[in-house]
Amino acid sequence: MNLPSPAGRGAEGEGTDVSNDFRCHVKRHLVILLLLAGLVHAQQADEPEPPKTLTPGKGVELTVARCVTCHEATHITRTKLSRDEWEFNIKNMIERGAQIAPNEIAPILEYLATYYNRDAPPPPAAAASEGDAITKLLNANACLACHQTNKRVVGPSFQEVAAKYGADGTAGAGIATRLRQGSSGVWGAAPMPPNAGLSDADARQLVAWILQQK
Ligand code: HEC
Ligand code: HEC
Repeated sequence: MNLPSPAGRGAEGEGTDVSNDFRCHVKRHLVILLLLAGLVHAQQADEPEPPKTLTPGKGVELTVARCVTCHEATHITRTKLSRDEWEFNIKNMIERGAQIAPNEIAPILEYLATYYNRDAPPPPAAAASEGDAITKLLNANACLACHQTNKRVVGPSFQEVAAKYGADGTAGAGIATRLRQGSSGVWGAAPMPPNAGLSDADARQLVAWILQQK
């Protein structure tokens, strides 16, 4: 059975045939334009914005704690130096007032010379591992300005926290809540301000990691 075709369909069909040629031209030009745009884009991509956080890797926590205080991490991420120049840079920063113990220079230099070396590309980024996620969270929330793994700074060391709660499997939720809402009086007079930007899941992930520090 022949269904009646909707009115005007035939005319549209012819119109399409006529305009196909024209469309082809437009298409070709579009393709060329897109190619050009791609080239321009690729050139711009040669100079991307410097990353705002340091690449996760061995020594990153110490480097953040010592170097990302007077200025942002971009001072480092936009700079590629040789190992010797980084060594000189660290001395220079100490002269400018950076508080870096003599035995901390080597691990910081090792980190900088590994990830921001002009002469050697950084090692390929490890597949997004739990460690990277933790480093990102610690960086993004400035936790390391007040905490270190093995030394009390403004707040308790992560090892102290693990020692206090480690055996108590139910402690995590309460710690995660204090992490998000702020805490005072548990460890001393200094309060921890709320970390309002931290989701519950992120807080729990951080706490689980902290409680493993030995
Ligand atoms: C006591 C404050 C302080 C600390 C801590 C500090 N810096 Fe600096 N840094 C400065 C000042 C001041 C300058 C020069 C002015 C500017 O560029 O902001 C500077 C400049 C730099 C520059 C040059 C930036 C550029 O774009 O040319 C680099 C690289 C750098 N710092 C790396 C580091 C590293 C690595 C550490 C840790 C080892 C560190 N800084 C710790 C104060 C500090
Ligand atoms: C401005 C400083 C500061 C910052 C930033 C900070 N903390 Fe704290 N933190 C403290 C202080 C001080 C305490 C002790 C508070 C108390 O006695 O109740 C503390 C306590 C803690 C505790 C123990 C809580 C408990 O219930 O015993 C953990 C875990 C912790 N912080 C982790 C973190 C993490 C993770 C971050 C980043 C998301 C962070 N802190 C950011 C200062 C800080």
